[in-house]
Amino acid sequence: MPRTYVVTGSASGIGATTTRILRERGERVIGIDLRDAEVEADLSGATGRVEAAAKALELAGDTIDAVIACAGISAPIPATISINYFGVTELLEHLRPGLVASDAPRVAVVSSMASLQPNSREMVEAALAGDEAKAMQIAADLAAQGPEVGYLVYPSSKRALARWVRRSSITPEWAGHGIPVNGVAPGTVLTPMTEKLLSTPEGRAMVDAAVPMPLNHHQPPESIAHLLIWLTSVENSHMAGQIIYDDGGADASLRGDDIWSWNDPA
Ligand code: NAI
Repeated sequence: MPRTYVVTGSASGIGATTTRILRERGERVIGIDLRDAEVEADLSGATGRVEAAAKALELAGDTIDAVIACAGISAPIPATISINYFGVTELLEHLRPGLVASDAPRVAVVSSMASLQPNSREMVEAALAGDEAKAMQIAADLAAQGPEVGYLVYPSSKRALARWVRRSSITPEWAGHGIPVNGVAPGTVLTPMTEKLLSTPEGRAMVDAAVPMPLNHHQPPESIAHLLIWLTSVENSHMAGQIIYDDGGADASLRGDDIWSWNDPA
């Protein structure tokens, strides 16, 4: 029996690759994207999220077995926090009734190794508090200071999303309904998002300095798609709130070998 998946960002990059592999395996996919998708919607605003969820639920026949949220942008603009954080979390809230109706519901989102980079704590806290207007205002203030400071918007959106995954995954709304919620944090993936940046030696040098990938260097979208598919498979019954750094070793290079001593006695 095929499972019904909702995949956001299904028209390009990681979302398109995930959609293709799922369909090749005989699963049913309802894609959500700005264009070239079963549900054409803009996830940057509250109305678009409500409409996208309603249409996806209608197409699914009210039962959704898994949601894989890939849609996102990396530009140093306020829309980045709206799409990357609220376009995932609010949409998931709207889709939850469909997941609750499934025998084996699963959720996986795409964060980033950028969640480890410098970010705006204030913006992360505003997002986690559900205050989109405030988060966007902070993003606008940062963006107004030029692209270097504006870049903070992207890591902030991915840090907030990673923290939302951890805190939500153990609540009655998600764990209580038997829904594993997890995330993937890619390194540098070869998709349209990174194409321009990686097309010059200077761009590549900048990216590689920030994202060290000692294992196999830049990754194809398939490397992320396969993990998203496992996280949302029936086999994944007990993983909750994990952000899997599938990043060629960037996390291990940057954070080192000891991420456990935080709770050791002094
Ligand atoms: P991509 O640009 O190839 O695909 C993103 C998709 O999201 C596009 O089809 C786009 O139309 C859709 N989208 C953007 N704004 C939208 C909106 N307002 N409403 C609906 N759909 C919208 O990018 P890629 O590389 O596949 O990225 C997928 C996810 O992976 C993003 O969340 C990105 O931040 C994340 N990521 C990507 C990395 C990379 O190196 N490419 C590294 C780490 C994370």
